[in-house]
Amino acid sequence: MYNYQKYMDIPFSRWHLAIEKRRSRRHFDPSLPIAPEALAALEKVCNQFAPFPRARSRLVTESAESVFKGFIGSFGKVKDAPAFIAFIGNMGDPFVHEEVGYTGEGIILEATALGLNTCWVAGSFKPEMVASLLEVSSKERVLAVTPVGYARKFESWEENLMTGFGRSHKRVALSKLVRGLPREKWPDWVNICLEAARLAPSAANRQPWSFDVQDDGITVFVRTMGPEFNVSKRLDCGIAMLHLEVAAADCGRRGQWEFLPSPQVAKFKIYSQSVLLALTLGGR
Ligand SMILES: Cc1cc2nc3c(=O)[nH]c(=O)nc-3n(C[C@H](O)[C@H](O)[C@H](O)COP(=O)(O)O)c2cc1C
Repeated sequence: MYNYQKYMDIPFSRWHLAIEKRRSRRHFDPSLPIAPEALAALEKVCNQFAPFPRARSRLVTESAESVFKGFIGSFGKVKDAPAFIAFIGNMGDPFVHEEVGYTGEGIILEATALGLNTCWVAGSFKPEMVASLLEVSSKERVLAVTPVGYARKFESWEENLMTGFGRSHKRVALSKLVRGLPREKWPDWVNICLEAARLAPSAANRQPWSFDVQDDGITVFVRTMGPEFNVSKRLDCGIAMLHLEVAAADCGRRGQWEFLPSPQVAKFKIYSQSVLLALTLGGR
């Protein structure tokens, strides 16, 4: 669990809109540097959106080109990004992957809302190169990065090939992902939250999550079958958790995450009316 008082208030509506808008872009326009006010806003959100003490994000505006690598030769490589953000976790934390996914996706959604393009990259980058540009302690690991900048107006043939001509943006139907309370008993907000979680990006678009709807909240599960690609599925699940909570808050539902043992990931427990009232009166 974590304490809401410790981090900035999430701009829920802004990030909820960004969930629909975001899609991965890998080739950037070298003639468009990031606007100074957007850069300042990015720096601010990296510093302020840090809900877990052992997960952090750092913006780097130098040598972005040297950090990415291709899948085969230079195929699939991120090109011409003016900057990147590193997502770093302390490996002593048992929930480090979920926390880095959750935190990083907040930064990605804010970048999207600022009109910037991004792409989570956990495989095709050089962690040692990132570590040479940043201070990373012996307990920490750079779990992923994202390029950040303005994408080329049109997708190149290589980008098209990478996304299977748009197929990688497709998602599994909700009916295949959910158990628990039958759909006809869901309040409206549950549907909105699950739709938002379903749209989360994941490594190779594997969507390794499922959801259990209960009267007092929603539990996220990880599907352990299927390829790992050397990237923790729990990182993907952390991204889906952030989407779920952003949508819940945008529907006026607040709650708290409780991390759970595998194959569960975490339960989002909705605050009762009395807890919500106490939080509101307490200045939240
Ligand atoms: C944790 C994570 C790791 C990823 N790693 C890579 C990567 O190494 N290289 C890459 O080109 N794309 C990577 N992606 C991007 C996914 O392929 C992409 O998010 C997915 O296909 C869904 O497409 P969309 O983001 O456009 O919705 C990664 C995404 C996530 C969430």
